[in-house]
Amino acid sequence: METDRPLLVFDSGVGGLSVLDALRRRLPMAPIVYVADSGGFPYGTKTEIEIAARVPALLGRLVERYRPRLVVIACNTASTIALATVRSALDLPIVGTVPAIKPAALASVTRAIGVLGTNATVRQPYVDRLAAEFAADCLVVRHGSARLVELAEAALRGDPGELADYRAVMDGLFGQPGGDRIDTVALACTHFPLVADRLAAASPHPVRFVDGAAGIARRVAHLTDGQPWPDSRPEGVAVFTSDVDVATLRPALATRHLSRIERL
Ligand code: DGL
Repeated sequence: METDRPLLVFDSGVGGLSVLDALRRRLPMAPIVYVADSGGFPYGTKTEIEIAARVPALLGRLVERYRPRLVVIACNTASTIALATVRSALDLPIVGTVPAIKPAALASVTRAIGVLGTNATVRQPYVDRLAAEFAADCLVVRHGSARLVELAEAALRGDPGELADYRAVMDGLFGQPGGDRIDTVALACTHFPLVADRLAAASPHPVRFVDGAAGIARRVAHLTDGQPWPDSRPEGVAVFTSDVDVATLRPALATRHLSRIERL
């Protein structure tokens, strides 16, 4: 394994940065290629067919171009729909992001958990299976929000948004039958941990938020155990698949050592 072969972290937008943050804590010297499929954003309002056609093809091109040692699909929507297809098409380790229903159920005292994701994610049979396997004795309340993805994208560009907008999203979750009993919420979209403070402020009662980022970082560390890394942290690359206004994003990218911007 060559030292400079990167980890490729993939999302539709800036959400995967929440996963990258956890990866950086575990593997600070890892060369990073962060890909935001801005040309396909948002995924959460697309059909299964659209995601299943787009993501494996795009990842194929990216793997050819950047020759990563491993790919992290830092997107619940893409993972719950296309993970199996991507794995069978590409000959390298692929780590997916799936809704953190298991940790949420383990943490819940009231046995009522929320799953906050995109519209596409919360309707997936993959989520039904996770709920049946790990949260069979819990009330599982799901809510999909495209608005919250937009709010998180804006937040990373320096716009904190209105708390009323966040409250409206949270009402969609907690306003459902049994919602008042929820004590733990799985943030099942990688955009949402980026605005966890706002979500906490907008919740009608105190709740615990869980997500999969630390588990993904652990998994990547395990899969790359024994491989060489550069001696000093290399500057990473941020790749977009369409023309985007990079100026407002630069600070969020720079704090994550993503100083080179490329266009696929
Ligand atoms: N960040 C993505 C996820 O984890 C999806 C956001 C979107 O494009 O709708 O599901």
